[in-house]
Amino acid sequence: MSETELIEAAKLAAQSSYSPYSNYPVGAALLFADGSVVTGTNVENASYGLGLCAETVAVAKAMADGLRSGLTAVAVTGPSDRGDGAPITPCGRCRQVLNELAALGGTDPVIYCVGENQVNEVQLSQLLPHAFGPAHLD
Ligand code: THU
Repeated sequence: MSETELIEAAKLAAQSSYSPYSNYPVGAALLFADGSVVTGTNVENASYGLGLCAETVAVAKAMADGLRSGLTAVAVTGPSDRGDGAPITPCGRCRQVLNELAALGGTDPVIYCVGENQVNEVQLSQLLPHAFGPAHLD
């Protein structure tokens, strides 16, 4: 799957966002080495602090389906009508959640951070340097 297709998958996932409190729909799409794609979107809660981010939902879906390795790329999209059009960037918690799945398979996925007119490509290791991961508990 191409970068463009992965971004489109993330945008499609965002259409299912449950974000009535922030009105800030986010989409995430995970690409694995075997070609499989798992998407997620943010799921908020009337108890505001319990909301789940799109990337976290995608990782939970993938791991619940048994995926443990080969995380190759991640696309993250935000709403086009909010902010200054700058690319979205995964929140700190999501970086850590993504790192767990990446570390299990020994990959450093590229993260496509999608903005209005540009896509920032960064490695997860750039977003989360010196990460704490499962190896620390060996
Ligand atoms: N959000 C995500 O889904 N992913 C991020 O990386 C940043 C923020 C969601 C959380 C909340 O539902 C909404 O965006 C506004 O913060």
